[in-house]
Amino acid sequence: MMVLTLTLANLSIGILVNAQPFLKKHPAINPYNYEVVKEASFSKAAVTSAHPLASMVGAAIMKDGGNAFDAAIATQFSLAVVFPGAGNIGGGGFMLARKANGELIGIDYREAAPGKATRDMYLDAQGNPITKKSLDGASASGIPGSVAGMIATHAYAKLSLAKLIEPAIELAEYGYVITAREANGLNSQKANFLKNSSAPSAFTQREWKAGDTLYQPELAATLKRIQEKGLAGFYEGETADFIVKEMQYSEGIITKEDLKNYQPKFRKPIEFDYKGHHIISFSPPSSGGIIIAQMLKMIEPFNVGNMGQNTEASVSLMIEAQRRAYADRAEHMGDPDYWKVPTKTLISDEYAKDRMKDYVPGVAGSSKITLAGQVHESEETTHFSVIDAKGNMVAVTTTLNDTYGNKTIVAGAGFLLNNEMDDFSVKPGSPNMYGALGGEANSIVPGKRMLSSMTPTLVTLNGKPYISIGTPGGTTIPNQVFEGLVNIIDHKMTLKAAIDAPKFHHQWIPDVVGVESDFPEATIEALKVKGYNIVKRGKFGRMDGVVISKDGKRTAAGDKRGDDSVAGY
Ligand code: GLY
Repeated sequence: MMVLTLTLANLSIGILVNAQPFLKKHPAINPYNYEVVKEASFSKAAVTSAHPLASMVGAAIMKDGGNAFDAAIATQFSLAVVFPGAGNIGGGGFMLARKANGELIGIDYREAAPGKATRDMYLDAQGNPITKKSLDGASASGIPGSVAGMIATHAYAKLSLAKLIEPAIELAEYGYVITAREANGLNSQKANFLKNSSAPSAFTQREWKAGDTLYQPELAATLKRIQEKGLAGFYEGETADFIVKEMQYSEGIITKEDLKNYQPKFRKPIEFDYKGHHIISFSPPSSGGIIIAQMLKMIEPFNVGNMGQNTEASVSLMIEAQRRAYADRAEHMGDPDYWKVPTKTLISDEYAKDRMKDYVPGVAGSSKITLAGQVHESEETTHFSVIDAKGNMVAVTTTLNDTYGNKTIVAGAGFLLNNEMDDFSVKPGSPNMYGALGGEANSIVPGKRMLSSMTPTLVTLNGKPYISIGTPGGTTIPNQVFEGLVNIIDHKMTLKAAIDAPKFHHQWIPDVVGVESDFPEATIEALKVKGYNIVKRGKFGRMDGVVISKDGKRTAAGDKRGDDSVAGY
């Protein structure tokens, strides 16, 4: 077991005074003193998420008799408290599951465009995008889906919803000690929080440092309303009033009807085979499942394992697959309820073969477009994976879009809103904050869901549960999952090594290859000689996963890039 201990100065209280039922029953989960555990194997069940407390909550829920769905719900609500940058109740996401009996479930709780949204709502009089409006403040928010998504997931759970929300309430009410990373994040956004929100909030009360305790009483009250009233505790009544009031502060257009009418949707997952493995991933409105199917199929005829991991040979092949798949993303993908996505063709073997017929090994392709500038970097989004004792597998990727979403905290309700409207093509042909292009397939229509890159993914081997994996990272997400799977399947790496390995990213436009700062220099130089335009970037995402090894153990791994942490029993 690899354990990293957080050095938390100024621990506020060593023991929980007046602890409520969940934390009292689980004294090992101490919000004032906890460790990051990067990798561990468990005999029965495991969770990996962006925060140690959320992973511990998920594992404890399973030990208390819950299954992987119970754990997922409790983990998501806990992340909304302890990982405010991306864990959320004001955003949306995708829940992908494979039950131990083989049944697949895909719940789409992606945000939707409000009823008053219009195609050109983010364009000025000259028809140019007003980027700030689709990123900053309430005007950038889609109708949040996370609470509805978790309540839909509850149909597969065993414990009461009230029990599953309880840990999050206690963490919000009794507070938790924040890490250096969280302190820096909150401090760096303080001015934006104050500018965009109609009132100061728990996040803005001070300059933060590692070891300070963050109390979120307004968020606790919102979670209690959900605990008592279910959907109505968020989409109606006091919480809905708070959201609609916050809308008025910065040109938001979400109405009470929008909130009341929001529905999660069941989606048929994308399924395909790759070198003896059965891969299951999310379908539109996420582009992720289709893109990884396309890329893996494009490289399947090649012996990638022999080429070596992160060598010029394997990386250039994979870049050319990335270029082709992301070009298709821009043209063909959007909300399937509003746009006919040619999924069957895109993920077929014949199409992959046809797309690669002009591929020449060792020769850089061209997207035939001038560079469109740097890709925005942010941690945004978050992923967690769960596998329980029965073999139920859950993979959830959820987001506010940018880190801390639109930097608007709903006054009185204590949670951040998303800026997911920027994931639409605000002007078909103009890049969004990730530099990604989109067309009519992803134009704004009331009720429509914006195209996503989130790629929660499951793998079975010989019909048995094997891997649950995913990551944040905006448009880099499908590429990271693609590279993670190739690392495991072709390069025979452990889950932890596959997750931590340096990643690269090409998204068709701009025609550049982004590489992480620790990417092998020899490969960078060799790629440059072949004609690739390489740009060094900080870090890509924070991949989390759980794998079942041959002896049945659940080995969980959290990305080295964040405070990601595993738990289990
Ligand atoms: N907001 C990032 C995504 O959905 O892909």
